[in-house]
Amino acid sequence: MPAPDHVELWVHSPPLAKATPGQFAHVATQGMLRRPISFSRLDVDTGHAAILFQVVGVGTRWLASQQEGAVLDILGPLGRGFPAPDDRRPWCLVGGGVGIPPLLAAASQWTPAAQTTPATILGARTASLLLLEENFRQLGHEVWVTTDDGSRGEKGTVIGPLARWLAKNPLGQVYACGPTAMLSAVAATSGQRGDVWLALEQRMGCGVGACLACVVLGNGANGPSYRRVCADGPVFSREELIFP
Ligand SMILES: Cc1cc2nc3c(=O)[nH]c(=O)nc-3n(C[C@H](O)[C@H](O)[C@H](O)COP(=O)(O)OP(=O)(O)OC[C@H]3O[C@@H](n4cnc5c(N)ncnc54)[C@H](O)[C@@H]3O)c2cc1C
Ligand code: FES
Repeated sequence: MPAPDHVELWVHSPPLAKATPGQFAHVATQGMLRRPISFSRLDVDTGHAAILFQVVGVGTRWLASQQEGAVLDILGPLGRGFPAPDDRRPWCLVGGGVGIPPLLAAASQWTPAAQTTPATILGARTASLLLLEENFRQLGHEVWVTTDDGSRGEKGTVIGPLARWLAKNPLGQVYACGPTAMLSAVAATSGQRGDVWLALEQRMGCGVGACLACVVLGNGANGPSYRRVCADGPVFSREELIFP
């Protein structure tokens, strides 16, 4: 069961089920702009894909009210997902809040490097908002949990366990999704070590690269340049982004 005020919704759509983890669905919500939501689970065999979202406003409230059998208008899969890890090196997932669901889709598809156990670090403001801990444990991951208020796991942010993991795995691969402040701290903590991939959550308009509502500052071939989160991302390498 997801946390309170969170809903997991399955759709039958063979094209969506072929998404790469980290790509997103752009879901039409009655009379409003589409809302971007990542895939939390993908089942190519049955042609089903799931999205797991927090009910925060009018769009997600409408979506949560849909009954079984409803027909939804979804564009996708959109954007650039996570590249699969190099299978010779250990990898670690770092998720904060509603950034956790796309990491479950990735964890379900990727295999660990030989003689390593994948690590997952999950953060939330408080215990009741923590998502999918048991699912990562069932996949055999070593799971660390942090909460801002200390109501579950270690008190603090995901950065404490991440720094410890990086100290033991200097060439490890890190895949993170969550609020911008968390991603900025993940980028700073990893320094120049290993490979780091960050999935941004940004307000969107069109979702397909046309309106520029979602741009962030990044590094282009000729210096700083704007990158469209919907089309160039939402997953970027650490080197592609500039955090304030
Ligand atoms: C690529 C991508 C993937 C996402 N995946 C997920 C997911 O898997 N699960 C999930 O729960 N949410 C996810 N989100 C966030 C989700 O899109 C928003 O929560 C949703 O659009 C809110 O719509 P609403 O109409 O319910 O809220 P609104 O009425 O539009 O806003 C309600 C509140 O949420 C804030 N908000 C709205 N959109 C965002 C956003 N993109 N980032 C941060 N704050 C926002 C608003 O500032 C406001 O405070 C994702 C966003 C992006 C860009
Ligand atoms: S949302 Fe329109 S360009 Fe990204």
